[in-house]
Amino acid sequence: MFQMTQLIRNVPTITSKKKVFVLGVVFFVFIYLLIHVKSFQKIANNFIIRPCDNEHSRNIITQICSLYKSGEINGTLCEPLCNTYQVTFTKCLNYRSGKFVIQAECNDMCVPRVTVSAVLKMSRIKEASVKDYIESIGLELLRLVNSNIQTILGQMNLHNYSVSSESLSVITADLLKSEYGFLSRDNQNVLNNLWGNDYYTRFTGTVTSFIYARSYWSVVKQNEFRVSQFFNNWDVFPKIYAFCGPLYITENIPSLKSIDKLIPILSSEFPSWNKRATLAKQILNFVKRTDEMEHPIHFCDIKSPHFGFTYDDNVRFIDADLVIADEALSSSLGSLKCVKHEDCAIYDCQGWCDLKAGYCTKIRTNNNLQSVCAKIFRSEIISAYGGLLSSPPKHIADKLTALVNKCADEVTTNDQGVSMQRPDIQVLTTLQKYLNESLS
Ligand SMILES: Nc1ncnc2c1ncn2[C@@H]1O[C@H](COP(=O)(O)OP(=O)(O)O)[C@@H](O)[C@H]1O
Ligand SMILES: [Mg+2]
Repeated sequence: MFQMTQLIRNVPTITSKKKVFVLGVVFFVFIYLLIHVKSFQKIANNFIIRPCDNEHSRNIITQICSLYKSGEINGTLCEPLCNTYQVTFTKCLNYRSGKFVIQAECNDMCVPRVTVSAVLKMSRIKEASVKDYIESIGLELLRLVNSNIQTILGQMNLHNYSVSSESLSVITADLLKSEYGFLSRDNQNVLNNLWGNDYYTRFTGTVTSFIYARSYWSVVKQNEFRVSQFFNNWDVFPKIYAFCGPLYITENIPSLKSIDKLIPILSSEFPSWNKRATLAKQILNFVKRTDEMEHPIHFCDIKSPHFGFTYDDNVRFIDADLVIADEALSSSLGSLKCVKHEDCAIYDCQGWCDLKAGYCTKIRTNNNLQSVCAKIFRSEIISAYGGLLSSPPKHIADKLTALVNKCADEVTTNDQGVSMQRPDIQVLTTLQKYLNESLS
């Protein structure tokens, strides 16, 4: 009897020990997954908000300005940012692991005689400081324009070296040719787009030319800058106003807030159907417009915060890091080794594995519209973004949802037996038609 009572008394103790043990195991498994499993990290990243740090962002501006003041970099943004203070810090905008993205006020520099909100941007660098980064860019540039440079590098003062505007023009043209395919070396219009109107005035003496050339190269090497400048007449990306070394300043075009499909009803920011349908129509117009451009471009990182809306409701793509020109995407895909088709994806741009050769083919098997349908209009099960067209009004729900699914999923097989997911202009116009019907 005594034993029995004791046993009963002991039961809760054993249970709570068990609980602690189970909780401990769950906790360690969670931490293990967090650290080791990539896809789990991706999911976790969607939910863990790691805001940027204003001090960290200010420090980048301080580094840029000290390099400008010591004559190491230049560009038309340097004076207004570092001396006349026409460009002033407001706050940082991104997450810690991404680029440096800083909101700023821009007085009489971005737009004459008015103050506008603007955004300073720079890729994250692997070097310990901006100074180290700019020095490595300088060396790279000298190697590119002078293949014999290796032999004299040790003995020379880099500041005495010059890079002519012609050399810079040739290496820029080569870079653009590899991305856009057919650009001829003397196509000055396109080159002017990249380097701005004051370019030739920067090439007066050897020192200015080297300092300017490496500032220019440090910014041109950033895909977002290059692609935005190359297409600056197409109203696809925010306008870039100026740069100072690797830091550039663009229009502020606020983005679409992420729409969390998991708890749309609980989220106070989940917009009304009319609002969402209107945004979707604007995004479709944007996709249509970009499909009609003379150089095809691929949006390989599609998510709602990357679509910006201007004050007059035009769409701009605000994160162009993974916007890739056709030629560049083909050669990147073609250089990937694979054992299955999934190995051939470059973020949202999907490819096709030639299983016999063990290399990806050069074809993208989906398109921009397919990614928009799958990642913006429809919600993924676990995603912080997407679901813009979820829960449509009853009278349109069946056919609209069926069309969004078709747009995201439908597969056709081409002549070479490759499965393609490529919704076309007819799907796009029908989506527009249904959205209009949903609004009436
Ligand atoms: N031109 C811009 N105008 C307004 N907000 C911007 C602009 N560029 C970026 N942002 C904001 O900063 C965030 C991070 O910028 P992004 O270019 O996406 O950097 P990352 O490469 O780190 O993803 C964007 O999601 C957006 O909210
Ligand atoms: Mg981004």
